[in-house]
Amino acid sequence: MADLDAAALAATAAEARAMGADVVTAAIDVREPDALAGFFGQVDEHFGRLDILVNVVGGTFRAAFTDVSAKGRDTLVRTNFTWVVESTQLAARRMAAGGRGGSIVMLTSIEAHRAAPGFAVYAAMKAALAHLARSLAVELGPAGIRVNCVAPDFVPTEGLNEVASTAGSGSARAARSASDPGDALTIPLGRKGRPEDVGSCVLFLASDLSGYITGTTLHPDGGVLASSGWWRWPEEGFMARPPAWVLDQLEGRPED
Ligand SMILES: NC(=O)c1ccc[n+]([C@@H]2O[C@H](COP(=O)([O-])OP(=O)(O)OC[C@H]3O[C@@H](n4cnc5c(N)ncnc54)[C@H](O)[C@@H]3O)[C@@H](O)[C@H]2O)c1
Repeated sequence: MADLDAAALAATAAEARAMGADVVTAAIDVREPDALAGFFGQVDEHFGRLDILVNVVGGTFRAAFTDVSAKGRDTLVRTNFTWVVESTQLAARRMAAGGRGGSIVMLTSIEAHRAAPGFAVYAAMKAALAHLARSLAVELGPAGIRVNCVAPDFVPTEGLNEVASTAGSGSARAARSASDPGDALTIPLGRKGRPEDVGSCVLFLASDLSGYITGTTLHPDGGVLASSGWWRWPEEGFMARPPAWVLDQLEGRPED
């Protein structure tokens, strides 16, 4: 396990060891190529083989596309794309050399599959990962290496809460409360995501249970991608346009 947060890393490693797992850790910024290569070296030395890779790190901030600076743009690309390519290449070479195949899982996002105003570069990089997975699934398929993605929507975590606090009043409120009226309105399954909803997809794709699945994406999003604009309004149920009482309230309000 590699993570920037040394304390969280140590706590998670201790939890895994208590469950009987053998763990190697590296407190690194995965976006630093030398540090990332060093981590893979550590894994070689300790385990002598590599069967599964899960690329987790990613993140964003809300900004109008026209306001994103060159530095911000570069950060979004490096955090959500460049290091994943690097990490996947380091793993695929080892898996191919090992001759036993393998499974590579990438964390993308619902935003890879729909428009994301205010998050355009992040969404484009996540879409790029989904496409990378598709191409690599084909290219690495003959070596028995499977490549898939997991695309969550709203799962309260430290990273999400930071982004949500700047992503409009509804998102900020949603990040602060375990359950709010927006859940029933916008999520068909009626609740926000939990880390274990995402983890169970990763576990499935990492394991032989998904041994014949490659080049695809699992969507632990409560049905949000499927709903694509349909919201479940109180009393009237699912509608793709707001009810009249909402329109009445909006009428006459000054434009933002
Ligand atoms: N939480 C959500 O609602 C959500 C929704 C869609 C997609 N995702 C995607 O899922 C992934 C995980 O999201 P999250 O909300 O758990 O993220 P998070 O920001 O809470 O961080 C997850 C872990 O990554 C570590 N980390 C962050 N930057 C790092 C770096 N540069 N080097 C090494 N470690 C680093 C953090 O310390 C943390 O332990 C991301 O790729 C994100 O884009 C999350």
